[in-house]
Parts: sequence; structure tokens; C-alpha cells
Amino acid sequence: MANASADPRLMGREVKRIVFSEQDIADRVAALGREIAHAYPDGELLALGLLKGSFMFTADLVRHIPRPLQVDFIVAGSYGSGTVSSGNVRLLYDPETNMEGKHVLLVEDIVDSGRTMQKLVDLLETRRPRSLQICALLHKHIAEHLEHPVRFVGFDAPNEFLVGYGLDHAENFRHVPYIASLA
Ligand code: PRP
Repeated sequence: MANASADPRLMGREVKRIVFSEQDIADRVAALGREIAHAYPDGELLALGLLKGSFMFTADLVRHIPRPLQVDFIVAGSYGSGTVSSGNVRLLYDPETNMEGKHVLLVEDIVDSGRTMQKLVDLLETRRPRSLQICALLHKHIAEHLEHPVRFVGFDAPNEFLVGYGLDHAENFRHVPYIASLA
């Protein structure tokens, strides 16, 4: 969509610009899927989507990973209704899937401060997976003390408040099919 201000999904809210178009996302997600399949030549793979932000990304990504895998979800949240992370990452749903001996791929929409990822890595490592890696659609590269590298990155993202393709502002705009920067 060339003119985001005319998009009724935005409820009249001004967006600064479209940062990643639907086509940009589709092309990159397909490439990421191939990259992930290549990186896991054997073993059981569990794609663990972090909700709510990664619901759309996870659904699209797993369709582009041409190898057997399982899908589950974990739910955490920290932002509330603001635009700045509260820093207080709360685990809201913890899946019962057995992770022991599996390659666990945590699928995130965005790494911003990195706090969510760090908290989940600490938790998931106690489940004794064969390996634990992160796949993030967007990475802002502003997190200062990331102990765990992000193995698969969709796009380097600008340090702006981004919405769409799963990302919200006060729970709105998750259904927007492209990623935009809020004015
Ligand atoms: C957002 C986003 C990431 C996380 C990134 O989730 O979806 O999961 O914050 O921020 P961080 O790197 O600063 O921790 P949020 O807490 O808003 O929950 P949501 O996924 O339900 O939107």
C-alpha cells in the first residue's frame, strides 16, 4: 500500500512511513525459512512463537521451513499500553511441550531492549533443549547486554515505534499487513 494514511485499518492514525511492505516481508520470511531448514539438517525442531507479537510471523515462517517441525507458543508481555518497555517481563502462558533434546527455535517479532528475549532464554535453557536459538523478524540492535546472540534476523529495524504484522500500539494495529512507523 503506497499511501498508508488512507488505510482504514489505521483508524485515522498518522503513520510516519511504511518501513517494510507486505512484499518486503513475504520475500524475507521465505528466505528465512530456507535458511532455518538448512541450519537444522537433523533432529527434532520446535518452533516456539512468542505471543502475541509473533502470531503472524510464526504462521508465515513455519510454512516456509521445508522440514518436519512442531509448533507451540509461549506468551509474555511487558509494554502495557505505553510505547516504552516497562522492563517488567511477565510470563503469561508457559507451554507444556517437552523441550528436552529438541532444537528449540524461539520466534520473536522484535528485539528491542532485549529484556523479553533474555528472560525467555534463561527460562528455556532450564528445559534442557538440544539447542536454543532465536529468530527475530526485527532487530533494533540497541540492546546493550545481549548474552545470547540472535541467530536468525529478518531485518535490522530503525529505532522507531513500529506497528503492524503482529506489532501493536495499545493492542491496535496488529492486523496491519505491513510494518509502519507511528508518527
Ligand atoms: C513486545 C514485542 C517483543 C518485546 C520486545 O512485546 O512483541 O516480544 O516486546 O521488547 P524488548 O526487547 O524490549 O523486551 P510486548 O511485551 O508488547 O507483548 P506483545 O507481544 O503481546 O505485544
